[in-house]
Order: sequence, then C-alpha cells, then structure tokens
Amino acid sequence: FNVPTAVNEPIQDYAPGSRERELLQSALAEARAVEGDIPMYIGGKAVHTDKKGKVTPPHDHQHLLAQYSIGDKTHVQQAIDAALAAKPQWENLAWEQRASIFLKIADLIAGPYRYKLNASTMLGQSKNAYQAEIDSACELIDFLRFNVNYMTEIYQQQPPVSPKGVWNRVEQRPLEGFVFALTPFNFTAIAANLPTSAALMGNVVVWKPADTQVYAANLLMEIFREAGLPDGVINLVYVDGPEAGEVIFNSPDFAGIHFTGSTAVFQNIWKTIGNNIHKYKTYPRIVGETGGKDFILVHGSADAEVSSTAILRGAFEYQGQKCSAASRVYIAKSLWPSIKELMLRDLATFKMGGTEDFGNFINAVIDERSFDKLAKYIDSAKADGSVEIIAGGNYDKSKGYFIEPTVIVADDPKYITMCEELFGPVLTVFVYEDEAFDDILTTIDSTSIYALTGAVIAQDRYAIEKASNALRNAAGNFYINDKCTGAVVGQQPFGGARGSGTNDKAGSMINLLRWVSPRTIKESF
Ligand code: SER
Repeated sequence: FNVPTAVNEPIQDYAPGSRERELLQSALAEARAVEGDIPMYIGGKAVHTDKKGKVTPPHDHQHLLAQYSIGDKTHVQQAIDAALAAKPQWENLAWEQRASIFLKIADLIAGPYRYKLNASTMLGQSKNAYQAEIDSACELIDFLRFNVNYMTEIYQQQPPVSPKGVWNRVEQRPLEGFVFALTPFNFTAIAANLPTSAALMGNVVVWKPADTQVYAANLLMEIFREAGLPDGVINLVYVDGPEAGEVIFNSPDFAGIHFTGSTAVFQNIWKTIGNNIHKYKTYPRIVGETGGKDFILVHGSADAEVSSTAILRGAFEYQGQKCSAASRVYIAKSLWPSIKELMLRDLATFKMGGTEDFGNFINAVIDERSFDKLAKYIDSAKADGSVEIIAGGNYDKSKGYFIEPTVIVADDPKYITMCEELFGPVLTVFVYEDEAFDDILTTIDSTSIYALTGAVIAQDRYAIEKASNALRNAAGNFYINDKCTGAVVGQQPFGGARGSGTNDKAGSMINLLRWVSPRTIKESF
C-alpha cells in the first residue's frame, strides 16, 4: 500500500473581511453562547460524575464555558481495563485500516472542524487566531499525516539479509500493555499527538490532558470518534495527576508514557516508574518533552531588524508559553542600542486583550498560578537595583490573567530570570562585550540546564560555525538567523535533551519507533 505523501497544511491568515475570519468568529460566538457539559470517555462511553471542574477563558475568567466531570481512581482503572479489552482487535487490525482513521481525523480537522477546534483553543487556552491556526489546526493535521507516512516507512523497512535456506524478518509489534499519554495545555496539536501517535502504531491509550486544556481535548475526542476510532483505543480521563499516577504506575500492564509537561513532574514520574519497575511485565518506554530555557544569541555581525523580530516573536508569541519560547537573549554591545530601539518601537504596537478581538497580539497567561508566579519574578526584578525593566512590568488579573510583555535587562548572565524557566511573557537580556563572544558561548552552554531550542543570529560565518559547535548540546532544535520557535512537522523534528526531555523528536520516525517493540523471526527451510 502507498499512503498519500504528506505535505504541510497551508496556514489560513484570517485576514479582515475573509470568509475564514467570518467562520471562525461564528464558531467563537457559538462556543461562548453554550455552556458545555464535558464527560470523560471510557471504552467509548461518555462518563459523567458529580464532581465538576470549570472551564473559563484565561482572558475572561468569570465566563463559564463548560463544566467537566472529574473522575477518581476507579475511572482510571476502568480506562485501563477498557484499553486492554480493545487491544487484541486493535493491534490485529491491518495497519492501513488504522492509518485510514488517522488520515480521516486530519481531514476532519482540515475541513469541517477547523474553526470549532481553533475557537476551542482560542477560548480555552487564550491563544490568538493565528497561533491557534498554526498550533491546533495545521500542526495537528501535519502530525497525523506525516506520522502515517513515517509509519508506512517503518512497516515497509528493508528486511534483514536472508541467506540461502533462511527467511529472516522483523515484525513491529505494539507494546505489551497500555500507553499513558499525559499532555500539556500549550499546544492542542501536542495534546492530540501524544495519544494518537502511540495508537497509530497499534497501542491502546489512557489519556489525561492538562486541566487547562480540557475544552479542546473534549472536541478532539469527539472528532476521533467521528472518524471511526474504535471504542477503548483512546480513553480520556480527567483525574487529579497524583491520583491517576497511583493507578497507572502500579499497573502490571503499564508499557509506556508519552509525556509533555514540566521537568519536575517528569522526573517524579521517572522515579516512580523506577521504584515500581519489578511490577511491570515489560520495561516501559519513557518518552517525554519537558522544560526549556531557550536562548537567542546575537553576534555583532547580525542584522538588527532580523534580530529584533526574531527576539520579539520568539519571546512573546502565545505569551511566551511555548516550550520553545525565547526567554534569555545575549546581545553584542555594539548592536544593543539599535536592537533596543527596534524592540521598543514594535513592542509599543502590541495590543493586549481577549482572543475574540483579532487585533490583540498578546492574550492572557494560562491560569492564576502562572500569573502569580510571573508577577513575583517581575516584582523581584523591580526591587533589584542590578536589573532594569525597559518594557512592560505591569500585570492585572481582574478580568483575565494579563501580564504585559516584559523585558528585563540584567547585568549578570546568571541573574535568576536568565536561568529559571518562567513560561510567560518575560524576557531577560544580557548585553555582552563584542570581543567576549567565546566567553558568552561558554556561559550559555554552562547555564543550559535545559536544552530544547536556541538560535544564533549572525552574518559572520566563523561566528555561526563557532556557536553551532560550542552549543551543540545546548539545544535539540538549533536555529541560524531565525527565531527559536515554530518548528514545523516534517521539516524540523522537535525535541531536546538535558533537562528538556528524552529527545525522541515529536513528528518523526524516531518517535514512532518508541511505540513498537520489534520481534525478529528466523525461519529455516
Ligand atoms: N512547533 C512548536 C514550536 O517549535 C513545538 O511543538 O514552537
């Protein structure tokens, strides 16, 4: 079988007066008008409970969009049971039948559900139209279509050598047990990719999204079902993390985790899995993308306009809540005055507010916890005489969790906001002496506890080469003369090592290979 060759889904720009904008606006209005009642899905059944959580837009936290049912340990166990019950039929289904379901999901999102899914991301996660289009529609469609291509490559790999009288072959089996998908709020595409990539390879899944992504997760599950995903293949539960973990990580059938979230949570999970290792039938696959403290390094030979645009887009798109977002920038002193001027010029044009007004570039941060944490960092920067806040610095949570895009200039490359992950619209700049380029490379590498994304902006080839070599292990996605965000599926496989994860590159064959366990068969004639 040949599957359709994947190409990247074209991005719609929602220009004023366009039909797409009109459709998206009516999807937003419709979603706001209805108060949803979101169930869990276990074994294909909608499960409602009396314990309810609330979905409110982060930019308008008094508006109730939906209530969702919160489950407990029993529901997690039921989800595992439902997954295991679905397993024999699912894993024996011909792979092209499985592929067909995921290609259909991609088509449903590219077509009839595009605006509704974007509206869910815009309201539930406070992401503007363009960012939602990129990350909930296009990136997800690309994940699904490209993964089907990678899957066929895996199943149709060159067989091993078979000498005369022997037939050697390799069978790509799904994992023995179930996969747990623990997914983040910041990318609807990632939230969907983690359960679907494992399921595509014949696995059954228990899926727990972040509380702050329930709204879009629910719609995704409805789309999966409409595309014909059999009951029990992906089971969606809303249960408190540690409570869910207690059941999942004590199950003998736990065979793998596909995770995106914080480093601390991932490390705790890894420890728990280690402590329970004797309980499992098989060594579980541990695949995770975790924190980031992504950098942009501007060399003295860089173009100031290119640098400023890369910094502002890298740092402030989606309020700096992309795992790839630039949060520390190192700028050569000779260029700083011109880059600063350009940054301040453009920052002054950024409008902040709800996602329903398409003119707003900056929206709210995800929740109160994140808001309070960011406000604290800003306050301590204000109180610290050694740093200067040159833009932003104000915040207000009366209607939504709004933090102004904030730029701190630090005189120490180890200042707290140059090192700790903040996950918000707060950028710290360190200005270095042009002649100290080699030293700054050493500083960047030694402060890169995380190693997800990074960029160098320069026109001098020797500088690019030097940075590329010195920072080889400081970023899993390295950009030259570009911002450090916006990896595209099929173009830049995404992921990092060190504190940023297992670097199993989402949207690549490397990732899909983690969800199979090969069996080598030798037959003698
Ligand atoms: N594509 C995203 C980025 O690079 C991550 O999924 O920002």
